[in-house]
Amino acid sequence: MENFAFKLSKMDRKFIKHFDTLCATEAAFGLTTKPHKIPIVASSTFQFENIEQGIEIFQHQPGSHVYTRYGNPTIEAVAQKIADLEVFGSSQNGFGLLCSSGMAAIHTVTQTLLKHGDTIFTQGNLYGGTTEQFNRIFSKHEISTRIVEFSDLNLLHDTIQKTGGNKIIYIETPANPTLQCIDIEALANVAHQNNALLIVDNTFATPCLQQPLLLGADVVVHSTTKYLHGHGTSTGGAIICKNEHLFKQFWETQKLVGSNSNAFDAWLVNLGMKTLALRMNKHCENAMTLATKLAGLQGINKIHYPGLANDSNHPIASKQMKAFGAMLSFEVGQSAEDAIRFANKLKLCKIAPSLGETDSMILHPVTMSHLKVPRETRLKYGITDALIRLSVGIEHADDIFSDIEQAIN
Ligand SMILES: Cc1ncc(COP(=O)(O)O)c(C=O)c1O
Repeated sequence: MENFAFKLSKMDRKFIKHFDTLCATEAAFGLTTKPHKIPIVASSTFQFENIEQGIEIFQHQPGSHVYTRYGNPTIEAVAQKIADLEVFGSSQNGFGLLCSSGMAAIHTVTQTLLKHGDTIFTQGNLYGGTTEQFNRIFSKHEISTRIVEFSDLNLLHDTIQKTGGNKIIYIETPANPTLQCIDIEALANVAHQNNALLIVDNTFATPCLQQPLLLGADVVVHSTTKYLHGHGTSTGGAIICKNEHLFKQFWETQKLVGSNSNAFDAWLVNLGMKTLALRMNKHCENAMTLATKLAGLQGINKIHYPGLANDSNHPIASKQMKAFGAMLSFEVGQSAEDAIRFANKLKLCKIAPSLGETDSMILHPVTMSHLKVPRETRLKYGITDALIRLSVGIEHADDIFSDIEQAIN
C-alpha cells in the first residue's frame, strides 16, 4: 500500500538540524492498511509535490484538493453520501455540498440563484429562521419574498407568470411547526412551466421518508443538525441537486463566501447516518402511537400530525412520504400561558430549540423559533400562541406519553 507523503524522508531529516524546527514540522505519518472508517482530514490546506502539480490542481477545480474551503475529502465523502440517499433507487446522479449550518445552506442556494429584483415564492409557516433570513437579509438586496397559497395551483401559476425576473419556489414539507404538507410533484410542474426552480427543505422527512428530487424538485436543502446527524453534537447543512451545472454554481458561491462545513462536523454526520434508517423507523412508530393517544387526551386541543387519517395533510403526505415523520405539534389550552405552564411541568421531554435527536424535545414556537415572525403571519398560518412542537424521540412511547399526561394533569 502506498504511503502518504507525510512520512519524513531521509532528505527532510537531513535538513532538520534544530530541535525547534522538528517541533514545527508535521509529524511523520503513514498508512500501511486502509482504515475501516473514513478519516477526519482536519487540514486546512493540501500540499503539492511541486509547483507544476499545484498549477495542474488549481486549473482543475472542483474535484482536486487545494484548501478546505474549496473542498475536503471528508466533507465531500459525506456530502456525496447524502446525495446518494436523496436519489437512492433511481438511476439519477446526485451532487452534494455540506455547509456550516442549515441556514448557511439556504443562504448559499438563494444567493446563488437570485439577484436584485428577483422573487422567492414561499409559505407563511416555514422554520422561523428561514422566514427571517428571507425578510431581513435578502430584502436588503431587493429580493422579494411573497407568501402564496400552495392549495390553489392555478392561482399560483398566474401569480408566478405575472412576476418578472428570476424566481424560486421555496418550501418545507412537512413544515415547521404546523406540519403542513405540500404536493412536491404538482409544485415542480408549476415551477418548471414558469422557468422557476423548486427548492425543498427536507429536514423533517429526511431521504429515508421522502425524496423530493425524484418527485421533480430541483434542489434539496437540509439542516443536518437534525435527523441526519441525529445526536445533537454537530451543526451543519446540506445542498443536494441533480444538475451538475447548478452544483458547480453552488460550489462557487460556497468557495467564495466560506459557508462550508468542517471535517469533524461532517464526520459526525456520517457517524449518525449509519443508524438513520433504524432511528427513523422508531421515531415514526413512536410519533404515530403518541399522536393517536394524544388525540384522546383532555386539555390537548388541536393535533397536527400528517399520519392521522383525519389530518388535512394526510392525503398529500401519504402520496409522497414512506412514513409520516416524528414531528408533531398540538395546542395546550387557549393561550401562551397555558402552553408555557404545560411545558414547565414536563420531566422527560426537554425544552430545547432543536429536533431530530434520540430524546424527545419540546419547543414553544411563539416564544422561541418563531419569535421574530410577524404575529399576523404566524396566526394566519396556524402558529398559535398555545402551540407546542414536539420532536418525538426513540425512547419507549409509553414513557413519553406518561410525561405529557402528567404535565397536562
Ligand atoms: C426545517 C429547518 N430548516 C432549517 C433549519 C436551520 O438549520 P440550522 O439550525 O442547522 O442552521 C432549521 C432549524 O431548526 C429547521 O428546523
